[in-house]
Amino acid sequence: MKTIMKPEFWKESVVYEIYPRSFKDSNNDGIGDIPGIRSKLDYLQQLGVDILWLTPVYVSPNADYGYDIQEHREIQPEYGTMDDWKALLQDVHDRGMKLIMDLVVNHTSDQHPWFQDALSSKDSPYRDYYIWRAPKDDGSEPNNWLSYVGDSMWKLDENSNEYYLHSYSEKQPDLNWENPKVRQEMQDMMRFWLDLGIDGYRIDAVNMISKDTRFPDAPPSNKLQGNAEQFYKNGPRIHEYLHELYTEVFSNYKIFTAGEASSVSIEDVKLYTNPEREEMNMVLMIEASKVCDADDDMWQSKDWSLHDLKEIIAKWEEDIYGQGWMGIYLSNHDHPRLVSYLGHEGEYRADSAKMLAMFLLTLRGTPYIYQGDEIGMTNAEHMKTIEDVKEQQAQGYYKQMVDDKGEDPEVIMERIRTKARDNARTPMQWDGSEHAGFSTAEPWIPAHSNKAEINVAQQLEDPDSVFHFYRQLIKIRKDSSALIYGKYACELSDDSYIFAYTREWNDEHWLIILNFSKSSTELQLPDQLVERIGQSELIIATHGDHSEEVAQALKYAQKATLHPYESLAFRGISILDQ
Ligand code: GLC
Ligand code: CA
Repeated sequence: MKTIMKPEFWKESVVYEIYPRSFKDSNNDGIGDIPGIRSKLDYLQQLGVDILWLTPVYVSPNADYGYDIQEHREIQPEYGTMDDWKALLQDVHDRGMKLIMDLVVNHTSDQHPWFQDALSSKDSPYRDYYIWRAPKDDGSEPNNWLSYVGDSMWKLDENSNEYYLHSYSEKQPDLNWENPKVRQEMQDMMRFWLDLGIDGYRIDAVNMISKDTRFPDAPPSNKLQGNAEQFYKNGPRIHEYLHELYTEVFSNYKIFTAGEASSVSIEDVKLYTNPEREEMNMVLMIEASKVCDADDDMWQSKDWSLHDLKEIIAKWEEDIYGQGWMGIYLSNHDHPRLVSYLGHEGEYRADSAKMLAMFLLTLRGTPYIYQGDEIGMTNAEHMKTIEDVKEQQAQGYYKQMVDDKGEDPEVIMERIRTKARDNARTPMQWDGSEHAGFSTAEPWIPAHSNKAEINVAQQLEDPDSVFHFYRQLIKIRKDSSALIYGKYACELSDDSYIFAYTREWNDEHWLIILNFSKSSTELQLPDQLVERIGQSELIIATHGDHSEEVAQALKYAQKATLHPYESLAFRGISILDQ
């Protein structure tokens, strides 16, 4: 029977995201690769994560670094061979860990043989694999939708005088899921990898595969990206398509599926992940990693307060309880670095990285750690001009704002430096050597100069490091049903600096207190929490002896002062009333 509260390995696991290009270069050509990943499995095992997710390693012209797939069943030569990949899978399995792959089904590369054939003639058998529309009467685009890189979602094919749709860049034409042959091809491709033994999929942009096929113009909007999402996200046939994938493919394997879905309501998440409906196992919560972004232009920051974050978390933690499941995704390869975005890059870098670790690993929902966050890596420093930027979304924004709208390049660059995806893609800092132990050659994207202070080698030696804090928290989480399955309740909800919550499961309960602030903060607890602390034990905290003193003080008084980012986790066992 499929009950929602049933224990599952994917609820009890901690996922680690690897961006292979930037993880470890084994042959010193400056590009991370699969043998490089293999050489670091001891490290990942020591950290204690149990599922590894690889962002795309398939053949790709790299317009979007792998998210533009040219050949679905082959490994990108830069990353190694199919044998290297099989050896990786074997090694991962031998260690009792699991490997999931990235499933990119909304689009392919424009270099994919299907698209090349589709371009060759309107009669191509592959023409209908993509989405084509005639121009409007005046020759302009079929509608006003804007792509993620800021241009029209439609690109004219001059030969046929028809436009094709691309939600991302024009080098990533969208597949036409209305065509049953496309769905068939995608299913075959999934079976290919699943038969090789992978343990599941992170499904890229999954809620975009069904679109409103009337392709109406979107109402006017001052959002930089326009207002068309309502027509291409969570579309009319999305649940039908996912249920079909489940029945035809997923249900035949012992795997799990995690959907990347931005702009979802909680109702959508329940529909996608309620096991009775047989669609996906979890949706990744992206909202928290956008909390500082302005609503009309994600490149600008807005004034936000901790209450905004509390609201997002409450929504996902409380409203989904018992009705679905999610992955907790505070950072990834598309966002700035976690510590730079939600923590503090300077004096309190390590403390704030630990606070964020405690946050990530004590929430309900499968935690996703992005490579490098476990040592508190920071945003990049090398993006002086747009020539230094590798990723297409920032390039598109620059073009739109500077070239088209004439905005001040320095203002735009400053936003790019703060928000660009490249921030998360600098080489993993293994040691303090010239290229951070990533490679002996010049890396494809420069290593950060703070590699001397922030690196794996040094943190492995230091029991008080961010790395060891992550390691301990992962272990604590794995040993606690309450942290995995327990009900979440927000405490001190009006407090603007402290994020506190409880997690409860049967007789086990936790109280988590996070000082989400760069200032010392007075913590004032209501009676029932003081009582609770009286029956609890401090299990882990950021500030050693000081945190012990805080814990002691809280047993007898309602007040204590927390250092910047100081965070504590208490665990208690209730004596159940007879
Ligand atoms: C997802 C990926 C991102 C990629 C996009 C298009 O959002 O995480 O890196 O650019 O999909 O495939
Ligand atoms: Ca290499």
